[in-house]
Amino acid sequence: MDFPDEEALAIVDDPSRTESGSDKDTAMLEKLAAQMLVDRDHMLGFPVNLDFDYRMFADFLTVHANNVGSPVDDSEYYLHTKPFERAVVKFLGRLAGREDAFGYITNGGTEGNIFGCFIGRERFPDAVLYYSDMAHYSAPKIARLLRMESCSVATVTGEGMDLDCLRDRHRQLGDKRAAIVVATVGSTTDGSYDDIPGIRSALADVASNTHIHSDSAFGGLLAALGYETRPWAFESGADTVTISGHKMIGGPIPTGIVLAHPEHVDIIRNADVAVGADDDTISGSRDAVSPLMLWYELRRLGRVGLRRRVLHCLDTAAYAVERLAAEDLHPVRVGGTNTVIFDAPSEDICARWNLLIVGDKAHLITMPHVTGEHIDRLCADLRS
Ligand SMILES: Cc1ncc(COP(=O)(O)O)c(C=O)c1O
Repeated sequence: MDFPDEEALAIVDDPSRTESGSDKDTAMLEKLAAQMLVDRDHMLGFPVNLDFDYRMFADFLTVHANNVGSPVDDSEYYLHTKPFERAVVKFLGRLAGREDAFGYITNGGTEGNIFGCFIGRERFPDAVLYYSDMAHYSAPKIARLLRMESCSVATVTGEGMDLDCLRDRHRQLGDKRAAIVVATVGSTTDGSYDDIPGIRSALADVASNTHIHSDSAFGGLLAALGYETRPWAFESGADTVTISGHKMIGGPIPTGIVLAHPEHVDIIRNADVAVGADDDTISGSRDAVSPLMLWYELRRLGRVGLRRRVLHCLDTAAYAVERLAAEDLHPVRVGGTNTVIFDAPSEDICARWNLLIVGDKAHLITMPHVTGEHIDRLCADLRS
């Protein structure tokens, strides 16, 4: 986005402005929206889905709806959407292998990771927190926030966390301690997956207790619904699970879903303190519109449509590999992921297609809005 700060500030801070604003304000927003729509058609480098249309939700922009407090209790603030939030949680809980999972809609993957690690820390206060060197940057931040001893574990290229390294590190601590492990299911770096059952067995006789938080923000739905299903959630031994709402499902506002075993949530619950509801979430006031949008989209797609969407992402990634190889850009893709890493082209092309650059490589992520036609247009740009 290329929008001068001074232009936005000039209007907000204009002493002569009237309460009703002016045509200038509207024109500025229209200009910004038009620019975003152009950028949307060139977004190939970030794991967000831009294929949605929620304009029918306009009426919800005229009320303040708020899902304050526990997702399980209706609060004394009547303008809420908790029945829809519970439906989304049930849908994803079933997919994750626990139909009665506790869950709520967060403001994104980071909040879900905080929640999962918080539950783990409250279960096992002496635990050490482990995460791979490809984990999302929220993992070390959470260690700091929760004042936990923590350790980054090396990864094996394309295979996720090095389990021998994890086991050795924990064994070296001496007295058997508990371990909390953030397992990244779909790393932001190359899409790779940590092996959840492998983590549990690696720690089985060296940890007094283990809590595994599955950070499935990026790769959970790919793991659940791809050509080859992979361990990602409760069925494979995770205790808490984060899924992003704005990645594979999609929406205009960052959002996510966190799931947990209901019996583990009791430990953090404060009864009846949140506007007539219990407090068992990280935030107080919570977004009540995203749950409606997620519900609408999941209801529209169903499990079959969601799978079709996942397969579209994987097929487009395979097509991108083929096309970029023909351009001699040495594309690499970890199996079962939609991230394609290739020799970075010129700065102009990377900026035009919003490609993420790491060192001398560019990252292309085939999210649902990306089609073969986008790849063809990128390749045409590469050639000219
Ligand atoms: C694996 C993973 N975990 C966590 C997050 C954080 O999500 P958010 O930006 O919604 O807080 C991301 C975001 O890219 C991610 O890819």
